[in-house]
Amino acid sequence: MPNLDFRSDTVTQPTAGMREAMAKAAVGDDVYGDDPTMNELQDYAAELTGMEGALYVCSGTMGNLVSVMSHCSRGDGALMGVNSHTWKNEAGNAAFIAGVMPFPVDDASGLPTEESVMSSYQPAGNVHHAHTTLMILENTHNSAGGLPAPADQFGRSAALAHELGMKVHADGARIFDAVAFFGNDIKDYTRHVDSIQICLSKGLGAPMGSIVCGGGDFIGRARRYRKAVGGGQRQSGIAAAAGLIALRDMRGRLTEDHKNAALLASLVGNAGFEVEPVPRRTNMVYFKSGPRFADAPALVSRCLDRGLMIGAAGPGRIRMVTHLGLDENSVRKAAEILKDIHG
Ligand SMILES: Cc1ncc(COP(=O)(O)O)c(C=O)c1O
Repeated sequence: MPNLDFRSDTVTQPTAGMREAMAKAAVGDDVYGDDPTMNELQDYAAELTGMEGALYVCSGTMGNLVSVMSHCSRGDGALMGVNSHTWKNEAGNAAFIAGVMPFPVDDASGLPTEESVMSSYQPAGNVHHAHTTLMILENTHNSAGGLPAPADQFGRSAALAHELGMKVHADGARIFDAVAFFGNDIKDYTRHVDSIQICLSKGLGAPMGSIVCGGGDFIGRARRYRKAVGGGQRQSGIAAAAGLIALRDMRGRLTEDHKNAALLASLVGNAGFEVEPVPRRTNMVYFKSGPRFADAPALVSRCLDRGLMIGAAGPGRIRMVTHLGLDENSVRKAAEILKDIHG
């Protein structure tokens, strides 16, 4: 039976090479800055992104949080998409931990619209307002279907924020899916932003961790906030060893996931489900659970009975994600099960 866990690209198992590198990693106390493998990962990430510095964090959520804390003061506001991960799925941490007021903006097509940015933006100088000092851009955009933003459009969104005096943080959990899709360079994105968070533990396959990249002062502040939220780890070179392999060797294979997702989208459509169209598909397929299953969890549990794992992504909305643990055979098998269930 092929692996049929399509819930997320976070379910990947570390490769044999990652496990071996973890076992052999040279380590030290990273809170003292003494872990050679961690230092190598951070130096490599900074060079790759063309940014002054990089900092390992435990998760994407922690990376986005320490970035918000490092860019904003308490009482500031941060613009983020109403469908973004930072707005919907990070436990409201900007508000309740950073003391920063989130302003949701329209990001139905991935990037925030200019109109919604202009109507939510609040400059300094009015005592009634939370001064919006930060905008967050998500790329690829998970809820918009794993949609990758072209570098020029991404750059225009960032430029608008900068013109208004805001800093720009990229939630680049899956930025390398955008890079793989367009065949461009990550610097085509990072040159437009003040910081970026990149997940090592999604399509890149590491078992844990994210990297935050940005300017030297920003990284200094982020290191302090990471400590404050309990993210200072000791012999974390064990994790960095897998992270290095993820960042160096796994970027190139993401197009394989995209090919499998394209096949999956067409087969799920053939099976009778209504697949959400996206202008550019990376590693995600969203579709409606109905008409037979109005309730997404009902379809999820019916699939589970047949050994197929898929995700409920909202009322009547299903998400399937391709990743390194799945191949064409898994995709075909999954589509057969869905076809049987649809009837
Ligand atoms: C777009 C996006 N940003 C951030 C995160 C958070 O990453 P983590 O689960 O490592 O906290 C996720 C997780 O799925 C995500 O999809």
